[in-house]
Amino acid sequence: MNRRMGRYSPVRSFCGAAPKLRYVLIGKMLHQLSHLFGDGPISLQDFRVLTERYASLPLIDQIQIWGRLICLQPILKAINRYIPTTDGVMVDLGCGYGLVSLLVASQRNQAILGIEASPSRLAIAQQAACGLQDVTFRCGDITQATVPPSAVILLIDVLFLFPDEVQRGVLTKCSHALTHNSIILIKDSTTAPAWKYAYATFEESIKLSIRAYGIRTGKQPNYRTPHAWRRLISQANLKVIDECFIESVAPYPGIIYVCQKMS
Ligand SMILES: C[S@@+](CC[C@H](N)C(=O)[O-])C[C@H]1O[C@@H](n2cnc3c(N)ncnc32)[C@H](O)[C@@H]1O
Repeated sequence: MNRRMGRYSPVRSFCGAAPKLRYVLIGKMLHQLSHLFGDGPISLQDFRVLTERYASLPLIDQIQIWGRLICLQPILKAINRYIPTTDGVMVDLGCGYGLVSLLVASQRNQAILGIEASPSRLAIAQQAACGLQDVTFRCGDITQATVPPSAVILLIDVLFLFPDEVQRGVLTKCSHALTHNSIILIKDSTTAPAWKYAYATFEESIKLSIRAYGIRTGKQPNYRTPHAWRRLISQANLKVIDECFIESVAPYPGIIYVCQKMS
């Protein structure tokens, strides 16, 4: 047998596939997996386009991004359901790699500003948004800086990183930045069911101890009971319009609050 040709390897043949085809296959696989994390509007095409936007990163970063992407169906569903397209700016606080912002931008004409403290995550988000007029990502510490005037605010899996006082401070700043009818959508984690809470706490504690976010944070995630989330929200002069648990088989006790400023 010709040694240079070697044996057929599915892995080698996959890695060598034409880049376009590779991202079609990855997009398809991620799209299928995403339904384990809840249903939502992110299409196969969205998965393909988005994975291609991050394609120049090292594989290890891409895998982290794919892992995040498959969790986002229920979040996009809530955004589409509760947040109309507005003339003003949608501000995505703690935007990470920019995935939620880019998904929103792919589905509507909306000016979006993502703010992120981690320089490495910010750089990835900025590179992925290259060529998009409506999306801007900039560096900022949301616990220190004022929140710019916003038509909509997203706080997706960010508040749990902060102690009680800081959570309250961030939400109060958000309340000041909103106009009366505008929406703030908070997605975080709660304490029920107990097995999901235990798993999510375990996973997140490991991430925090190895500084997975590339910035200083507490050592434990600050998840709250639904009652404690509602109390925190009202202390920040916000009222809850709707609240929903994320239904899925995934081991994360996600909860979404749709809120407005109290009149
Ligand atoms: C769990 S990730 C969620 C990222 C993104 N919202 C998403 O849904 O994919 C939390 C993000 O908040 C960022 N972050 C943490 N503290 C921050 C701060 N003080 N100011 C701005 N961003 C912060 C982290 O760097 C990280 O990217």
